[in-house]
Amino acid sequence: MEDVKIRKIKLEDLDDFYTLFSNWVRTQFPEYDEKMVNYLLANKNAYTKENYREKIKKQTRFLIGAFVNNKITGMLDAAPPNTGLSFCSWLIVDPDMQKRGIGKKLLKEWEEEMKKQGVHALYLVSDDRNITYYEKLGFTHIGKFKKAWFGVDTNYLSKQIQEPRGENYLK
Ligand SMILES: CC(C)(COP(=O)(O)OP(=O)(O)OC[C@H]1O[C@@H](n2cnc3c(N)ncnc32)[C@H](O)[C@@H]1OP(=O)(O)O)[C@@H](O)C(=O)NCCC(=O)NCCS
Repeated sequence: MEDVKIRKIKLEDLDDFYTLFSNWVRTQFPEYDEKMVNYLLANKNAYTKENYREKIKKQTRFLIGAFVNNKITGMLDAAPPNTGLSFCSWLIVDPDMQKRGIGKKLLKEWEEEMKKQGVHALYLVSDDRNITYYEKLGFTHIGKFKKAWFGVDTNYLSKQIQEPRGENYLK
């Protein structure tokens, strides 16, 4: 097993990160058609390269990568704590590197860091194909939001990681 290093995505990673990210979004989300993907990658309120540049500069996201031999092989993009919760927008592992524990490592890092920051629950959305994956990693399937974003049926999953405490979520 390769040595996988999980760390924050930095500005110097942006070019590589965005080339991989946009390619993965195009090829690994069969639930989104081409028009939806183009919207996600080109709309100024969505996931453009410039938006990621700003997010990295201003540190407004929890954005981490899994590096093998200094090459990005996976990424996780989540919101910082908000009233005790953190929402993960993207978790993607390079197709050639899947099923080697990289997704699990990225989720673990998110969980550990959010726990330190006082988050008591993580949540994310997924289409049907990944429900078992997240359940295996301790998430609970909350339910299905029919015709959610882009009109696509979406499952919500959550994981409580500690007891909610006012001193954390009210600060
Ligand atoms: C879903 C994804 C992130 C998983 O990452 P990964 O690095 O391949 O997963 P891991 O190696 O960490 O898997 C951890 C465990 O789950 C299992 N697993 C992996 N994919 C699975 C799946 N789709 N369904 C059920 N179990 C799965 C693995 O076999 C492993 O089990 P083990 O610990 O008993 O060996 C990856 O497949 C991916 O990027 N998919 C395309 C994009 C995507 O769907 N992202 C999620 C959006 S919600």
